[in-house]
Amino acid sequence: MDRLLVALPDLVRRLHGFDSIEQPAEENAFCQKASLRSWPVREYLGLIFAFLGEGVPPEFQAHPEFEHFDGMVEIDSYSRECNYFQNLENALDMSHIGFVHGDNVAIFKGIGLGRALDAEESDWGVTYGFTRPDGQRRVQQFGMPNIFYLTALPTDRDIGWQESMFWWVPIDDLRHMQFSLHRVPAQGAVAERLHARRQARRNEITIAHQPLARDILEGRARMADVDKSKVDLVRLQDDVAQIGQGLIADRDSETLGRGAIGVVAIRRLWTREIGAFLKGQPTKSWKRDASIVPRAWGLSGNPARIGGDGMGTTQVAEVIDVRPHVEIAEQLKALHATVR
Ligand SMILES: [Fe+2]
Repeated sequence: MDRLLVALPDLVRRLHGFDSIEQPAEENAFCQKASLRSWPVREYLGLIFAFLGEGVPPEFQAHPEFEHFDGMVEIDSYSRECNYFQNLENALDMSHIGFVHGDNVAIFKGIGLGRALDAEESDWGVTYGFTRPDGQRRVQQFGMPNIFYLTALPTDRDIGWQESMFWWVPIDDLRHMQFSLHRVPAQGAVAERLHARRQARRNEITIAHQPLARDILEGRARMADVDKSKVDLVRLQDDVAQIGQGLIADRDSETLGRGAIGVVAIRRLWTREIGAFLKGQPTKSWKRDASIVPRAWGLSGNPARIGGDGMGTTQVAEVIDVRPHVEIAEQLKALHATVR
C-alpha cells in the first residue's frame, strides 16, 4: 500500500517552518551530518495529507464538490482506541445504525435490512447501497483504501441531509483517528444560526467519550446513566460497539450474515490488493470521478450546489472546526503519546 494517502492533524502544520537546522551549545556544530526523515505533504480542505510511501507520490485525488459550493465545510475528527479497520468496517455496516444508535430509531427504522443491501466494486472502491420497500435508494461510496463518502444524517433543524467524507487513519495497531469533512448547505442567516448552535454544542460537550467508553466496557459505568447533553452520544455508542469487539477484532470466530455484504466487499478488495502488492504485482489505480457520489432517498447528487458564476470565479467554501474542545484534548493526548 505504498500509494496510501493519509490525513494528519495540525501537528504537521506546527512542524513546518523549520527549513534549517541549528545546533546550540556546540562550538563545532555537526548538525549538517544529522538528518530528519520527511515526506511530501499537501494542505487541502483544512487537512494535511502526507504521502508516506517511497518514490514519487501518486496523483493527488481532489474532491471539487467540497471546494466550491454554496455553503460551508465543517471539519471534525476524533480518536478511538481500537484498530482502525474496525471503524472502516463499521461504515460498511449500515445495519449497525438501528442497533447501536437505537435511540434514533425513528430516523433509522428499517435501514440496513440485510436482503436490501448491495455492494459492488467501483473505480474508486465499493458502491454500497440500500433499497427501501418503496424503491428509494441510499447509496454510499467507499474509496480505497480508507475513505468513505456518504450522504450523512441531518444534524440540525435548518438543514436536511448533508454530504460527508471520512478518512480513517491508524495511529498504531490499537488506536486510530477519523477525520471528517461535512459539506453543509447553509448560507447567510441560516449559516449564522447553524454556526452559533454548533459552537454552543462544542462548549456543552464536556465529557470525553473515550474514557467514558472505557468505563462502560470495564463495568464501572452504564450507558443508561450517561448524561447525553454532555457527551457525543453517537461516538460513545460506536466506541462501545467497535472497541467491544476487542482492540483488534478476532475475525476467525465470526459468522457473517447477509447484512455484512459491505464488510465482505471491502475485505475482498483489501485482500486482493495487498496480495498483489506482496507479490510485486501492480495494484488497481483507484480514482473517483464525478459520477461516484452518494445519494439518499429522494435526494440525488449534491444537496449543496457547486458554486461558480460562469466567469471563472467561484466561492471557496469556508472551513470551520467543529470539534468539541474535550475531543481536541483527547487527540493531543493520543498523538503526544506517539511522538517519539
Ligand atoms: Fe455508528
